[in-house]
Amino acid sequence: MGGETLERIEHLAAEIARHSHLYYNLATPEINDAEFDTLWDELKRLSPNHPQLRRVGAEVPAGSVKVDHRFPMRSLDKATTDKEIFHFVQETTAEGRRFLAQPKLDGSALSLEYRRGRLVRAATRGNGERGEDVTANALRIPNIPHRLTWDGDCHVRGEVVMSLDVFKEKYADIAPNPRNLAAGSLRQKYVDSGKGDASDLIFLAYDARFISSDDAHPDSPNPPHFEYDSEIVHWLRSVGIEPAGDFVCEGDTVSAVTSAMISQTKYWTDNRDELPWEIDGVVFKLDDLSKRELLGMTAHHPRWALAWKFPPEEAVTVLMDVDWQTGRTGAVTPVARVAPVVVSGVTVENTTLHNAGEVERLGIHIGDKVRIVRRGDVIPKIIEVLGPAKSEDLVGRFHGDGSSFEAALPTRSMPEIPSTCPECESLLEIDGAFLRCNNLDCPARVIRTVLYWCRALEMDGIGQKLAEQLCDVGLVRTLPDLYRLSMADLLSLERMGEKSASNVLTQLESTRSLMLSKFLSALGLPGIGPELATSIAAEVGNLDTLMSMVEAKDDVTDMGHNPVIERLVAIDGVGQTVAFSLLEGLAVRCSIVIDLADILEITSEIPSSISSGVLDGKTFCITGTLSRPRKEIALAIKASGGKVVSTVSGKLDYLVAGESAGSKLEKAKRLGVSVLNESELDVIMSNNENSDSKTTANSSIQRSGTLDDWI
Ligand code: IVH
Repeated sequence: MGGETLERIEHLAAEIARHSHLYYNLATPEINDAEFDTLWDELKRLSPNHPQLRRVGAEVPAGSVKVDHRFPMRSLDKATTDKEIFHFVQETTAEGRRFLAQPKLDGSALSLEYRRGRLVRAATRGNGERGEDVTANALRIPNIPHRLTWDGDCHVRGEVVMSLDVFKEKYADIAPNPRNLAAGSLRQKYVDSGKGDASDLIFLAYDARFISSDDAHPDSPNPPHFEYDSEIVHWLRSVGIEPAGDFVCEGDTVSAVTSAMISQTKYWTDNRDELPWEIDGVVFKLDDLSKRELLGMTAHHPRWALAWKFPPEEAVTVLMDVDWQTGRTGAVTPVARVAPVVVSGVTVENTTLHNAGEVERLGIHIGDKVRIVRRGDVIPKIIEVLGPAKSEDLVGRFHGDGSSFEAALPTRSMPEIPSTCPECESLLEIDGAFLRCNNLDCPARVIRTVLYWCRALEMDGIGQKLAEQLCDVGLVRTLPDLYRLSMADLLSLERMGEKSASNVLTQLESTRSLMLSKFLSALGLPGIGPELATSIAAEVGNLDTLMSMVEAKDDVTDMGHNPVIERLVAIDGVGQTVAFSLLEGLAVRCSIVIDLADILEITSEIPSSISSGVLDGKTFCITGTLSRPRKEIALAIKASGGKVVSTVSGKLDYLVAGESAGSKLEKAKRLGVSVLNESELDVIMSNNENSDSKTTANSSIQRSGTLDDWI
C-alpha cells in the first residue's frame, strides 16, 4: 500500500471521527448523510477492517457517562387476576372507557433522545431518574433510526429485546435468557466484549415525550398535539419507529371494557409462543392523555397503567443440599442447591429458602422432591415439599451450559441449621425466623457493605470481584479502609492495570464530599433505603445531631416520653421499627461512622423542621414544565418552610405552574387556589434569603415578610 493511500486512509478516518462527533454529540453536522456515506464507503474500500468503521457514533463507552432522565422512567403497577383488572378499570375510568393494550416485553428499557430528528443520545433506565449513556450500542441496533422522518425534539422510550431464535443460535451458552443478554449487550463497553452484539437486538417503543417549544431547538417544529396514546403509537410508526403494539380495548360499561381486556390477556397467553421475542404479560394504559394527567402518579408507578403478568411458571426438582450465606445486614440465609431444572426458559440450580424459619416451616429434607416457582425476574423459590425423591427424578437433567448433570441422590436428611457464621464463625443470634451474624468485621458482611456503598454512590469501578479481592487480601477490613487505598495497594492486586486503578481512585476521590442523605443511604443500615434516608436527613440536618440522638436513644423523660424516638416518628414514613433500626444501626456502627466522618466531608442537609421563612405552613403543588427540575424547586420551597404536595385540592395554598400546565392548573382555577409562576416564586424565595431583615428596600417593591403580600 503506497504512502499516499495510507495518508488518505488516515485522513478519511479522522474526518469520519470528526463528523460523527459533530453529528452525534453536538447535533451540529457540517455535511449531509450522503456526503458522510461517501467518506465511509471510500474508507471501507481502502481499508475494510479499519477500526473507525467499527466505531459508531458517540465515542463514549457505554456506562461511562450517567444521564439524568428529562422525564423519569417509572415502573408499572402489577396484577395477576381478572378481578384486579376489573378494579383497575373501575378506579381509572370516569367516562371514556378506552385502554391501549400492548404485550409487556421482557427486555431492557431504553430511552432515545432525538434532537432535530437525529438520535443524539440513548440511555438505560438506571434507577428511573438517572441511567447510563449507551448511545454507541443503541446506534448499532438495526431498527433504531438514526434519523426520524420528523425534524423535532423528542424522547422515545421502549424495550430492547432479542429474538429467541437468535438467542438460541448464538448465545444460549453465554447467558441464561434473552433479557439478560439484551441488557448486557446494551451496556457493554466495547463492541467485541463477548457480551452479545447490539446489532442482534430489536427496539420496540411504548412511549414518546416531547420537549415544550421553549426548551426545544429554535428551528425545531412544534410538538404534534395528541389526545390519545394510540395516536402517539401511530405517529411513532409514521416517523420510522416500531411500536410495541396498538390494540385498543373499548366498551360502554366497566364490565364490557374489562371483558375486552381479559380477552387480550387470554389472547396473549395463547399466542405468547408465536412472538419472536419473550413477553411476560400485557400492559394496559388509559388511552386518553388528559385523563392520565388527572390520575397522576405514585412515587413508583402511574395510576393510569397496569401490567398484567402471566401466571408464574412452576417446576419440580430435587433438593440436593443447603448452604448458608451471610449478607450485608448480617442475616444468614439458606440457599437451596437443587438439581438443574428449566423454569420459564431459565435453568435454575440455586433457589432461596429465605430464612431458617422457612426451612422449619416447610419441614424440608435434603433429598426431597420440591416444587419451585419463578416469578418474572425474581429469584426462584421453593413453595412446596413433595416427599422423598427417587433416583429417577435426577435422570435427564442438564446444567445451564448444556452439560449433563451427574449426581447421586443424597441421603435424606434435615438441613443443619448453623449456630456459627459460615464466614467468620462467630456465634449466631436467633432473631425470630432469622439467624444473624453480629460481627461487623465478618468478611462476607464487609464485602457486601463495600459493594452497597459503591453502588449507592455510583462508583461502578468497584464491582463484586474487586470488592472480594480487596477484602480477601486484607486491604479493606472495614468501609473507611476504602478511602485509605493507595495506587500501590491497588496495583499489587492481580489483574489490576494502572488505568483501572486510577479510575478507582478518581471515583473514590469524587465521593469524598457527600450530603448526609447520601451518606446515610449508602451505609446500608437495615431497613433504611434512599427515600427514608432523605427524609431523615432533611429532618435531622447534620451528622452531629444525628449521632447525639443515637447517644440519647434510650433516654426517657419522667413522663415516660422518649424525645429521640418521638422526633423520628414524626417524619413521614418513619414508624417505631424504622426509628429503632436507624438508631441501633448507627449505634453498632459508631466507630465506622466516626472514622468515615473524619475522612469524608459530610455536608449538612437543610433541616425541614428548623427551616422557616416566608413559606411557613403553606402548601404548594408544582406542575407544568419549569426551568429547573421539580425536585429542585420542591427542595427550595421546603427550605423556606413550605410543604409540597402532589395533588390539587381546595386546601392547597398555591399552585406553581410552569409552561403547558394542564388539568392541575384548570382545577386550581376552578377551586380558587392561587397560582404562581416560577419568577413570582423566585421573588418570594429571594425574600426568604433576606428574611433576617424582613423588610428590605433593595428592589422597587417594598418587601414584607409573608407570602400573602406577594400574591
Ligand atoms: S409502559 C410509566 N409498555 O415494563 C411506565 N412498559 O414493569 C410506562 N415494559 O419500565 C411503561 N413492555 O420497561 C410499557 N408495552 C409496554 C412495556 C413496558 C415492557 C417495561 C418497561 C417498564 C417496565 C415496568
